Amino acid sequence: MTIEHATTSNKLPGIASLPISDFKVHRADFFDKMENNSIAFFGAAQEVTRSNDTEYAFCQNKNFYYLTGFNEPDALLVLVKADNNQQSILFSLPKDKSHEIWHGRRVGQEQACQYYNFDKSFVLDELKSFVPEYLNDLSQIYFCFDNSEMSQQVFTWLSQARPSVRQGTKVPEVLIDASPIINNLRLIKSANEIAVMRQVNYISGLAHQRAMQTAAVGKFEYQIETELLYEFSRHGARHPAYASIVAGGDNANILHYTDNGETLQDNELLLIDAGGELAGYAADITRTFPVNGKFTAPQKLLYQLVLDTQLAVIAAIKPGITFAKLNEIANECLTQGLIELAILSGDLRQLLIDKACKKYFIHGLGHWLGLDVHDVGDYHFNEKKEQCREFVAGMVLTIEPGLYMPIDDNDLEKEWRGIGIRIEDNIVVTEQGYENLTVNSPRTIVEIETLMKKKV
Ligand code: GLY
Ligand code: MN
Ligand code: MN
Repeated sequence: MTIEHATTSNKLPGIASLPISDFKVHRADFFDKMENNSIAFFGAAQEVTRSNDTEYAFCQNKNFYYLTGFNEPDALLVLVKADNNQQSILFSLPKDKSHEIWHGRRVGQEQACQYYNFDKSFVLDELKSFVPEYLNDLSQIYFCFDNSEMSQQVFTWLSQARPSVRQGTKVPEVLIDASPIINNLRLIKSANEIAVMRQVNYISGLAHQRAMQTAAVGKFEYQIETELLYEFSRHGARHPAYASIVAGGDNANILHYTDNGETLQDNELLLIDAGGELAGYAADITRTFPVNGKFTAPQKLLYQLVLDTQLAVIAAIKPGITFAKLNEIANECLTQGLIELAILSGDLRQLLIDKACKKYFIHGLGHWLGLDVHDVGDYHFNEKKEQCREFVAGMVLTIEPGLYMPIDDNDLEKEWRGIGIRIEDNIVVTEQGYENLTVNSPRTIVEIETLMKKKV
């Protein structure tokens, strides 16, 4: 039974996975938010066909994973809180010798209780008879409203439970969206979650180092992607957290470029946005460096501006700050710098009000990071998106300013065209301020040029 990811190195700074008891703690946290006499449903992911009868690498539903640590498809977690008793029940695929010979081992119901600490575990087929019965005499049902299959399923169970009303039982009449509750739990990371994220950041940093040391004129972008994947998995991060962006030259100006099919050219930059996934948790790191190991003069100027902006923003991170305030800092740094480079012209104050730098910095400054690379959690308090959420210790986020100067932007002087730069680090908010998890991916011009002289 493969439950945890292994790591080949004991020199890394974090831990390779959460202890299984942490998932029980996550369930306890969710139970605390549930009303008495209620039930909650969380479904596992299903396998996704890649072609005919082969599937993509399985990726568990992240809410389900957060509450279970269980990595099989098609399962269902049921949380029942009745008369102030709490029960965690897992429905999962059965042990099945012939299926397992073809497709791999399953945990089965006995192990689910013993290893994963569920109070009860049943085979999936028993759902139909058990769940409508569980609903009897409960008042509320929690599930994620954005999961349309689960919504349908809940209504089916409710209609199956209703006949028993004639026998004098009650069925729940209140449906509650579980998403805001679980999103808020997932937004604040525990010490162990941060330790896994520290580890996957370090592994991803090693991968970015390797990319810098293997990049060369004439290689295909996907060949550098392969070096990243090799380094991720060598240290225990079997899969990338998202499709790696390996974008040479003007390809960096396509924000979600994942084609990675062109060759690297002399005197061009290479933008790599790539992070591993370890025990479900993502790293999300971007580095931009010269293919031939030496920045040109215009590349240096733009690169230093993006880096200075990133450093200024990160330095301001502490409890109580907001993304809105960090955006102001980024806006000021980039606008001032672009005026100095004569890429923007005019009155600084007016350019700041107009957010003129957004012409070249076309995406957000950062996002929450965790089990999902764009992790869950509200950025604002009210629905009008007016009040920005203040940071608190335990939040993890990216800071990723960039400048994008497309090759066909005739408004730009020629020297800037075809340059796309982003620098992205992963930051934990701490009681004292912040911890930058991205400690080993070279980021200054000197660090990058020095490392690139040492080929692997
Ligand atoms: N890698 C996706 C992002 O940076 O948001
Ligand atoms: Mn990001
Ligand atoms: Mn990224």
